[in-house]
Amino acid sequence: MALAARFDGFGTTIFAEMTALAATTGAVNLGQGFPDTDGPAEVRDAAIDAIRAGHNQYPPGSGIPELRHAIAAHQRRFYDLEVDPDSEVLVTTGATEAIAAAMLGLCEPGDEVLTFEPYYDSYAACIAMAGAERRVVTLRAPSYAFSIAELEAAVTDRTRLVLLNSPHNPTGKVFTRRELEQVAALCAERDLVVVTDEVYEHLVFDGEHIPIATLPGMRDRTLTISSGGKTFSFTGWKVGWVSGPHSMVDAVRVAKQYLTYASGTPFQRAIAVGLALDDTYYASFAADLRAKRDRLAAGLADTGLEVFPSAGTYFLTVDIRSIGESDGMEFCRSLPGRCGVVAVPNVVFYDDVDAGRPLVRFTFCKRDSVLDDAIDRLGALAR
Ligand SMILES: Cc1ncc(COP(=O)(O)O)c(C=O)c1O
Repeated sequence: MALAARFDGFGTTIFAEMTALAATTGAVNLGQGFPDTDGPAEVRDAAIDAIRAGHNQYPPGSGIPELRHAIAAHQRRFYDLEVDPDSEVLVTTGATEAIAAAMLGLCEPGDEVLTFEPYYDSYAACIAMAGAERRVVTLRAPSYAFSIAELEAAVTDRTRLVLLNSPHNPTGKVFTRRELEQVAALCAERDLVVVTDEVYEHLVFDGEHIPIATLPGMRDRTLTISSGGKTFSFTGWKVGWVSGPHSMVDAVRVAKQYLTYASGTPFQRAIAVGLALDDTYYASFAADLRAKRDRLAAGLADTGLEVFPSAGTYFLTVDIRSIGESDGMEFCRSLPGRCGVVAVPNVVFYDDVDAGRPLVRFTFCKRDSVLDDAIDRLGALAR
C-alpha cells in the first residue's frame, strides 16, 4: 500500500535517522535533544509514588485536576497570566500532540498556516495532516531576525493562524518584545490567531522569555503550548499542555480526544509536583544549561566552526562554510565516520534549502564529560 499523498516528503524524521546512525556507529549523539541525566528526584519519586498508589488508569480526557491547576498557577506565577484551570487548560500527550491537535482542531483544509523557518519538523507534518498549507518567513542567520515586510506579504486571505516558537528550535533565538509586538500587530490587523510553542520557556540564557499571550490584546487570540519534557528533563514522559481562551482550547480538546484521548496518569501527577518547585530549581536548571551552552560553543569555535549565538533552548547552530564545507546533510552523514559525532543538518527545517544548506545543529543537553568527549573528537576537523 502506498503512503497517503499528504505525507509526501515526511518519510522518517531526521532525529530517527541520526539517532539510529549514532547507535550503529557508536558515535556521540549531539543530534537529538534529550538530556542524558534524569530530572529532579522529587518529580521522579512522585511518579513512582503515584504508580504505587494505584493511579494507573485513564485520567480525565482534559487531564487530572491537580495538573490543570498547577499549569494555571504556573502561568500566573511566571507571567501574570490568568487561565481557568477547568475550561482554559488541557493536558496533552507531549507538546507534539498539542501541535497536531491544534492544527487539526483549528484549520480547515486549504487554510494557510504562517510560520517561521527553520521550523521544528512536526509543524510541517501536522499542517499537512490537517490539509492546510504552510507559508514560511525565513529567520536569517546569524541574528535570525525576520523582515516585517516579508511577514506582512506572507499573509493572504486564506491565512488562518500564525504558528510561533519561542525560544526557538533549532536556532536558539528568543523572540524580542519588539518582534512579538510586530507579530501581534499583524494578527490584530488581519484578525489572525496565534499558536505558540513555548516548550523551552525555562531555558533562556540571554534576554527574557515573553509569552506572546501577555502582549496587549493577545490573550484572547493565543493558544500557548508547553510541556514538562524539557523543563524537568523527562522527555520520555510526554506530558504537555495547552492554555488559552476556552474556544481555542476546546477546539484542541475535540481533536485530541480522538488521537490519544488521555495518557500518562502517574506522570501527570509528577509534573504537577514539578511545576510547583521553587524558583531555585528553575534558576539552577537554566544556569546549568547555560554553562553547557558555553562549554560546547567554545569547543566548536576551537575547531574553527563559526558558532551562531543561541539565547535559549538545547541547541547551537554552526555554519560549516567556516571550515570549507558547504553541504550540511553530507557533513552530518559523514561526521560519525570522520569524528564519531552525530549532529543534525538544519536544511531539513527549511523550505528555502539554500538558506539551510550550510547550517548544522548540535545539542548541549548532555553531561559535561560527553560534551568534552564530543569536542575532543571534533578536533579531527581542525587537523
Ligand atoms: C520546538 C519543540 N516543540 C515541541 C517539541 C516536542 O515536545 P514533547 O516532547 O513535549 O512532545 C520539541 C521537542 O524537541 C520541540 O523542540
